[in-house]
Amino acid sequence: MKVLMIGDVVARPGRVAVMERIQDLREQHGVDLAVMNAENVAGGFSITPPLAEQLFSAGIDVMTSGNHIFDKREVIPYIERQPRLLRPANYPPNSPGRGMWVGEVKGVRVAVLNLIGRVFMGPADDPFRAAEELIASIPPDVKVRLVDMHAEATSEKVAMGWYLDGRVSAVVGTHTHVQTADERILTEGTAYISDIGMTGSYAGVIGMKTEDVIARFTSAVYKRADHATGSVRICAVVLDIDEETGRAREISRLSLPHEQ
Ligand code: FE2
Repeated sequence: MKVLMIGDVVARPGRVAVMERIQDLREQHGVDLAVMNAENVAGGFSITPPLAEQLFSAGIDVMTSGNHIFDKREVIPYIERQPRLLRPANYPPNSPGRGMWVGEVKGVRVAVLNLIGRVFMGPADDPFRAAEELIASIPPDVKVRLVDMHAEATSEKVAMGWYLDGRVSAVVGTHTHVQTADERILTEGTAYISDIGMTGSYAGVIGMKTEDVIARFTSAVYKRADHATGSVRICAVVLDIDEETGRAREISRLSLPHEQ
């Protein structure tokens, strides 16, 4: 089965690119399941229910997230009733929403897991232990298993890749908004990349307005940055997974310019 995983979709430039291109990408790559990281969709911070509904209608099947997921209050009741929008599984147990989705795509059972790292990130429970517990709860007939490891440190993401090698189909990194060139299939058949990269404007600093971010770095005054516009790219990976065994056959990187 073919899976498209789109990296952090940032603000209006990112979500417009996804909405305009998702059907073409699905056709071009024969995509059975499209997953995107949605934690930056609303101006760079979280997602609102109407934006989530628009993206689902456009052709996204499942959304993962990360540290910004609860920045918009309105996502809280929505995530409780929308099983295809995930938050990190290793958040404290009282957090709204779920960290895993198990469903069926064209007759194939699939699990999508969302984890968050702890190195240079806010507090969270141990993602390795959380992954262990979640994987133990997946029914054995669910062979296709996709993990979004939302984390800053490459070492933590590489470690998670090896930790889950042979137990999941793919471990893909998100959060840094910078695509890495280390995609590969690990020894036991798990596809891996340290970061899928950002879908959004490359005219700014990881999707946000350059002046706003520089002002923050060059003074002690916190200013919430506006999102950048222009030079839009879609960053994603296409996975080819053997649905009988769950092993990945191929992982290929996409970094596509998108005129807006
Ligand atoms: Fe993040």
